[in-house]
Amino acid sequence: MRYLVTGGAGFIGSNYIHYLLEKYQDIKIINLDKLTYAGNLENLKDVENDSRYKFVKGDIGDVKLVDALVQQTDVLVNFAAESHVDRSIGTPDAFIKTDIFGTFVLLEACRKHGIQKFVQISTDEVYGSTLKGAFREDSPLMPSSPYSASKAGADRLAYSYHVTYNLPVIITRCSNNYGPNQYPEKLIPLFVTNALEGKNLPIYGAGKNVRDWIYVLDHCDAVDFVIHHGKDGEVYNIGGGNERTNLEITDIILKELDQPETLKVFVKDRPGHDLRYAVDCTKLKQMGWQPQYEFEKGMKLTIDWYTANQDWWKKIKSGEYLNYYRQQYQIS
Ligand code: NAD
Ligand code: TYD
Repeated sequence: MRYLVTGGAGFIGSNYIHYLLEKYQDIKIINLDKLTYAGNLENLKDVENDSRYKFVKGDIGDVKLVDALVQQTDVLVNFAAESHVDRSIGTPDAFIKTDIFGTFVLLEACRKHGIQKFVQISTDEVYGSTLKGAFREDSPLMPSSPYSASKAGADRLAYSYHVTYNLPVIITRCSNNYGPNQYPEKLIPLFVTNALEGKNLPIYGAGKNVRDWIYVLDHCDAVDFVIHHGKDGEVYNIGGGNERTNLEITDIILKELDQPETLKVFVKDRPGHDLRYAVDCTKLKQMGWQPQYEFEKGMKLTIDWYTANQDWWKKIKSGEYLNYYRQQYQIS
């Protein structure tokens, strides 16, 4: 099977590539990644010489390049995106270009050349926030940040290519991932690395916002599951079943790293901050899939990884990686 994984140098994409290479012998993977600030080839250093794997630096919005790559592809899994809500509030343009237009370019190439499976990695954030209950796959979409709105656009565009052109599209909507290789701007890696450095942990608002957390390898496993057992045109919610407030997450990190409560600081809230995300995963459960990593175990693995790989995140936090890739790949 020939895979085109887009955004494979990022957090989830790099874990997914490792997952595939470990699980399948007879596989070819092309990783198409633009290497934005979030893309990091260090995440794939251990597999860069694997004959089953190839890296291509490029933009999913590049029609010519995507056209050529799709012709060598059976399964396309689209992870490539601008992914951070805070950045989407400050500079939404890149979100529209990559998350919506980039997905359109991928879909068009697949329409032209055919594909066995197109997996659009969407997000639970497309449903927006809810105080009670959990969103099902047929719940209305009410995205409320430029990030989630651009993801919702891509999600429905992918669906339209199934309905209109019969493209074999599957859409997944996963909750908040955590684990190794996550860029230290997101809650868990930021707080773990700050705590390791004895720096403050900036909690937005009152810290009462709730997210459902899933260990990244469970997400990878669920994507693999729907590729093999899912139905074209369907949406699948993926969740970890671990709802926690941001304060609870903060306390776990401080306790595990034996750091004082005084590192907690309450800062100005994020504009339009969604209070709670929750997905109902009955559909996937009834098909026979469920997450394997208990939250306590996943958090311990994650905290241990950032503790053992300080070189990885210190280079990112100091800007060293970005400068290196800027030179290497002439990124502006
Ligand atoms: P990430 O920011 O760590 O990685 C994104 C990757 O995409 C980077 O390697 C980046 O270089 C690449 N990229 C960005 N723009 C590109 C472009 N125009 N062309 C090619 N590559 C480009 O993100 P992540 O957390 O790994 O998320 C991956 C996907 O999963 C995203 O689509 C995101 O919306 C979705 N998702 C993430 C979460 C989460 O909790 N992180 C949850 C649900 C869904
Ligand atoms: P984040 O990791 O950015 O994911 P998302 O907003 O996509 O769910 O944030 C998770 C939660 O943590 C969210 O409620 C915002 C909050 N948060 C903080 O309180 N402080 C921070 O420094 C960050 C990055 C996030």
